[in-house]
Amino acid sequence: MDSCVFLLCAVYFAFRPCCSVISPKWFQNISTNIFSLPGDVNLGGLFPINKQSNNVSLISEPNSIKCESLNEYGLGLALVMKYAVDEINVKPDLLPGVKIGYKIYDTCRKSSIVVKPTISFLTEKTSNALSVECNYTDYETKMSAVIGPHASEMVSVIGKLLGFFLMPQISYGATSDKFSDTLLYPSFFRTVPSDKWQLDAMVHLMNRFNWTWVAVIGSEEEYGQRGVQQFSKVAENMSVCVAYQGLIPVYTDPGPAIQTIINNIKTTQVKVVIVFALAEPAAFFFQQVSEGV
Ligand SMILES: *[C@@H]1O[C@H](CO)[C@@H](O)[C@H](O)[C@H]1NC(C)=O
Ligand SMILES: *[C@@H]1O[C@H](CO)[C@@H](O)[C@H](O)[C@H]1NC(C)=O
Ligand SMILES: *[C@@H]1O[C@H](CO)[C@@H](O)[C@H](O)[C@H]1NC(C)=O
Ligand SMILES: *[C@@H]1O[C@H](CO)[C@@H](O)[C@H](O)[C@H]1NC(C)=O
Ligand SMILES: *[C@@H]1O[C@H](CO)[C@@H](O)[C@H](O)[C@H]1NC(C)=O
Repeated sequence: MDSCVFLLCAVYFAFRPCCSVISPKWFQNISTNIFSLPGDVNLGGLFPINKQSNNVSLISEPNSIKCESLNEYGLGLALVMKYAVDEINVKPDLLPGVKIGYKIYDTCRKSSIVVKPTISFLTEKTSNALSVECNYTDYETKMSAVIGPHASEMVSVIGKLLGFFLMPQISYGATSDKFSDTLLYPSFFRTVPSDKWQLDAMVHLMNRFNWTWVAVIGSEEEYGQRGVQQFSKVAENMSVCVAYQGLIPVYTDPGPAIQTIINNIKTTQVKVVIVFALAEPAAFFFQQVSEGV
């Protein structure tokens, strides 16, 4: 999941481990070969292995982005892909005569970074070039499919591009219900349920407890914005009044915005707050809520 966090009278609270740490020493010298294996059929992998460590507003060249604080969860996901491919390759009865290869890239959790490996996946198998053609019928891409990326925000950046090439893309984390539209994302698949089901569950909870006066908070990116928007639409239909909507910034310091959100929650006197946020902004939010009480 992108992350689903509900704060319902502060009783139900679930979010994934997020925290990134400085790369441990053993990781710095590790061979990048664990992320690459040649095969007959190749898969591209996109995983949030590191986190951008330098300040975006100080960057003057496109290549000077530094990604070096390791996200152990993201590295774990990448290793699961490697493990799965290795298992398929060693089992003679699964795909006899075909070796699966892969190339795994770090997305650094930045939409700007995910574009580069995506373009390399789309280069032509024989020439390694991405050429402009009138007719792509006979064009064979270097990678046969893409695993990832994790976040809805990133799928919204590269999904339509991959869709143009009809390259299968299987995300293990992008839950935005927008990607269920097969006209816009004809080759998108996922192993996680669409947020539509999360919304339905939320609606059932609201009904079950007769909660009709609520606030909805989201993180300010694809997943959170979409969640807030969809919830408000459904709420209207079932006579739930959304007293307040707020967004937590993800690209700038969220502190001041969260303070405003908390003040507004207090002003509207709602007893129920629904949160659609990525793990990190959600953690900031809960921290400030607990400090402010
Ligand atoms: C990493 O490799 C460099 C160069 O080979 C070496 O000097 C350094 O000690 C290594 N660091 C670790 C933690 O193994
Ligand atoms: C990034 O640099 C700008 C300009 O120096 C500064 O205003 C901002 O607070 C910095 N942001 C972070 C997250 O360090
Ligand atoms: C594109 O190429 C394929 C195979 O070469 C051909 O069958 C098809 O008619 C072409 N489409 C157009 C619109 O030219
Ligand atoms: C919700 O409202 C219905 C109808 O007014 C009532 O029967 C039910 O007990 C209420 N449920 C709760 C959890 O308060
Ligand atoms: C609103 O409720 C009606 C009737 O129950 C249903 O047909 C419609 O799909 C609902 N709309 C939304 C946006 O949930």
